[in-house]
Order: sequence, then C-alpha cells, then structure tokens
Amino acid sequence: MKIGQPTLPAPILTPIIKPWISALVTDKVKLSELVTKYDSPINIYNKSEFHHNIQTFQNLANELELDLGVFFARKANKSKTFVTEAKAAGIGVDTASYQEVKDCLDEGLPADQIVLTAAIKNRKLLSFAVQNEVLIVLDNRDELDLLAQVCDEQNKSCRVALRISGFLFEDARPTRFGFVMEEAYELLTQDFIEKEAYSPFQFQGFHFHINGYSIKERSTALTQAIQLSDQLQEKDIEVKFIDIGGGFLINYLEHKSEWEAFHEQLIKSVSKKAEPITFQNDPLGMLYHQGEIIGKPKVYPYYNECAKDVFLRKIVESNFDGETKIFEALKSRGIQLRIEPGRSLLDQSGITVAEVVFRK
Ligand SMILES: Cc1ncc(COP(=O)(O)O)c(C=O)c1O
Repeated sequence: MKIGQPTLPAPILTPIIKPWISALVTDKVKLSELVTKYDSPINIYNKSEFHHNIQTFQNLANELELDLGVFFARKANKSKTFVTEAKAAGIGVDTASYQEVKDCLDEGLPADQIVLTAAIKNRKLLSFAVQNEVLIVLDNRDELDLLAQVCDEQNKSCRVALRISGFLFEDARPTRFGFVMEEAYELLTQDFIEKEAYSPFQFQGFHFHINGYSIKERSTALTQAIQLSDQLQEKDIEVKFIDIGGGFLINYLEHKSEWEAFHEQLIKSVSKKAEPITFQNDPLGMLYHQGEIIGKPKVYPYYNECAKDVFLRKIVESNFDGETKIFEALKSRGIQLRIEPGRSLLDQSGITVAEVVFRK
C-alpha cells in the first residue's frame, strides 16, 4: 500500500446460513472426528433443504395452476443422494453424460423422468439412451443422423426434443448450441415427415438453456418458442413441452448494503484509492484505464431479490402478447413448462468440511 492511501475496513459479506449448518459448524469435535474417520474432506448433505427448494417451484406452479415439470440438473452435484431424493420427490433429472444417465436408471428413476441434454452425445451415449427409452434433446444435424443410425440398429423409436436458439433479443447474442428456430421449423415440417431415416423420432418439445441470469432473455425466448409452437400447430405438429433449462438465481447474502459497499470499495481499490480487497487487486472483469474504471464486475449476483421461484415467477408472469401472460399462454395451449434447476435446488442443502493443513 502506498503512503497516503486510506485504509478502509475490509468489506464484510455476511452469508445466509441455515440453522442446521450453523449448529453443525459449531460442533468442532464432531467435525474433527468425521474428517479423521474418513481421512478426507467430507461432504455433508441435508435432504430436507433440497426438498424445500423443489417445493418453492412447485408451490408457484400450484398457485398459477401451471403444468410444471421439474428436472434436477445433475451436473450441479454428482452425489447420488440427490438422484434418490429427486425420485422420492417425484421430480425428474436432467443428465449430461453416460454415467449420469446410468446412475439415474440404477436408482430406479423411470425413463420418462430422465432427460438427456449433454452437449456432446457420442454413439455409446445415444445407444444407451435409446435402449432405455430416455428422452434425447438434439443439438445439430450430425446428432440427428447418428441417432437415426442408432434407432435403425436397435429397431426402436425414440422420444426427442430439439434444442433451439437464435432468439431475437434486443442485444442479439448468438448461442452456441441448438437449431436456429427457422431451421427447427423446417426440420419438423419437412425432414421429420419426409426422411425415412427420421421416422423413428417422436417429437415431444423444445429446450433451451440461456447463459447468465437475465429474466428478460428467458421470457423473450419462451415467448418466441410458444410462437414457434403455434406455427407448428397449424401444421398439426404438437409441442408437448417447452424446457427453459436452468440458471435460476440463488440469494447467498444477508444484506444488500454489504453487497453495495463491497462494490464501492472494489472500485476504490481498483482505482488505487484504497488497499486491494481482491487477490492481486483483481478487478473482477472491470478495466482500469487512464484513471477511469470501464465496465462492471462480472461476478455472480450473490445478493439478489429474485431468487428461485421469484425468478421463475418473473419469467412466467411476463407479457406474452399484450393481453396474456406467458403462463396463461402456456396453459391455454396445453403446453407443459419444464425447468432444469441445478444449483438453486442445492441451496443450503450441503457443506464441505476440510481440515486446514497450513496457512500461507
Ligand atoms: C442444459 C442445462 N440445464 C440446466 C443447467 C443448470 O443450471 P443451474 O445450475 O444454473 O440451474 C445447465 C447448466 O449449465 C445446463 O447447461
């Protein structure tokens, strides 16, 4: 620190901690025993928090009388506990690899409660999914052709959904995965009908997952997916569901004022007007150039007021066509809304305990 720089107290960010965690972390003897017993860092789970998080989404659906399918995104945590609990809660699981699908089947999850959304799907994975009648979300034409071969080899049909992209956002950003909507329309109204090799495909619905945490982008994409479903309906093609993926926010912090103070202090630190508060004065995505701060920190919105069901409510209560809200548009068309929450179902449902070996 340079002489003359003011020393500000380090900003405090008070986390939200559920009572079961506070109670456990004060029991140092028990934790030490556990770490010694397993000779390893340990993960401790609380199933009831997972169920509580599922319930928050389901309560909203009940209130709005909305047909909602919840699929826990397994990629957020590999423990089989959450597959067991998803099954107990009667929800599905979103899987992203061979092993994830296998674990779900081994756990006795019914095939129609599993969805395969892996970004990379090789022959082995597709074969396994077809054999076990798991719904596959398709991303590109290569995948379609590979799946057609697999269905032919097994002489089996297969339930499929299409991952769609190319939504018209105000600040249009191309998405990496999926079919642009016009292409999806073409596929379903032409190739799926005309191409013999695609005859085993039973189209069920659409899927998308949008990076980041924008409610507006999600409601815009969902609106456009419903409009696409309407166009397909005119051709007698039924869209049973629209799956909007994950990304539901979690609120991790107790106080808004602390979160704001953290940002104010970060700007002072990065502008060299105060001591660093991040490692090597990392600007967390901002740029300090010629005495000026450019941009905003690119960090998770650790404090936010629209987590989980509130986030979903804002999406589904967004305007659809001036007269109707999105959830009403879904209901009137008999389209099920599906979500794939990962991290938001795990909020407060586990901790990792490890022994500090040294400080440096
Ligand atoms: C297809 C898909 N669904 C669900 C999720 C889960 O996201 P989150 O943990 O933010 O809810 C992801 C995360 O990358 C995803 O790619």
